[in-house]
Amino acid sequence: MSILLTGGAGYIATHTLISLLENGYEAVTLDDYDNSSPEALRRVRQLTGKEFAVIEGDAQDRELLVRTILDYNVDGIIHFAGHKAVGESVAKPLKYYRNNLTSTIAVLEAMQQTGVRDLIFSSSAAVYAGDNQMPLTESSRRECINPYGWTKYMSEQIIRDAAKANPEFSCVLLRYFNPVGAHPSGMIGEDPSDVPNNLMPYICQTAVGLRERLTVFGSDYRTHDGTGVRDYLHVCDLADGHVKALEYAASHSGCEAFNLGTGTGYSVLDMVKAFEKVNGVKIPYVIGPRRPGDLDECYADPSKAEKLLGWKAKRGIEEMVRDGWNWQKKNPRGYRE
Ligand code: UD1
Repeated sequence: MSILLTGGAGYIATHTLISLLENGYEAVTLDDYDNSSPEALRRVRQLTGKEFAVIEGDAQDRELLVRTILDYNVDGIIHFAGHKAVGESVAKPLKYYRNNLTSTIAVLEAMQQTGVRDLIFSSSAAVYAGDNQMPLTESSRRECINPYGWTKYMSEQIIRDAAKANPEFSCVLLRYFNPVGAHPSGMIGEDPSDVPNNLMPYICQTAVGLRERLTVFGSDYRTHDGTGVRDYLHVCDLADGHVKALEYAASHSGCEAFNLGTGTGYSVLDMVKAFEKVNGVKIPYVIGPRRPGDLDECYADPSKAEKLLGWKAKRGIEEMVRDGWNWQKKNPRGYRE
């Protein structure tokens, strides 16, 4: 089986690439390195000792997708490519809608044109409305609060409609909760190009001295310690979820959505304390105001993925903070060194 990974040099994609290669798949990555580095792919090669094809280009380019599929006898696609900064999506909504929706449409058109039937799509817990009961199931109400979230929501709808019109298609929508950590080797990990928006990279960069202190966004939430609760999952567990999703797609048709989370929520301060305890480093922090749009808590009911995909997160909070720190310590400036 040969799998095309759009956005293949990114954080979740490179971890998935390792899982695929270790499970006997062949792979082709397509990336324009707009927010990623070819160095990550070089390291995947070094780590796994396996070869895979690397194409530089844009996932919006349907002709390039078709050529790549035909040249490498691609059997299935994992569509990771997309812009993902929530704040930027509010400031530049058209950039987000154009890029994220055009690439999804191009991938589906390329599938139609070449006869590829299996698609795994990187969706997000950002598709769920803020007023749902926790834990979130796949049928919880969906509504977004920023253009980034809407591009995931709309891409899901486009994929669902395309699967309805092409009964041979088999599409899996993976709704990621909060991926953190890194490969245990410390050779690949998350490498934000700017000041990190997300909690874990911010903690890691504070620990290594790139940031003076963490600002905890709000301490008056209705949670056990007043700080926001999220469903953090180890990126290697998330990577394995994609392999399971491909196996599922191969034996089904239609379109199905799955939550990929652990089902356990941790607060901001739980994460800070675990990081300090496991790694023996202090994280200076101050309490600041709430960040607009943030919820008290957000965590998954992952039972559908366990039942239908046979997937369950195996790694706990200790491994998440240990591996995140191991990556940051070895690569203080990410892939730039
Ligand atoms: C965010 C996005 C979500 C996206 C996900 C990708 C928002 C509102 N949501 O989710 O759409 O799919 O990233 O991983 O941006 N926090 C701090 N200090 C910081 C950073 C974060 O206290 O410097 C807190 C937040 O208030 C939140 C928790 O840490 O309670 C997690 O934040 P973050 O890592 O940004 O993830 P989400 O907001 O859950």
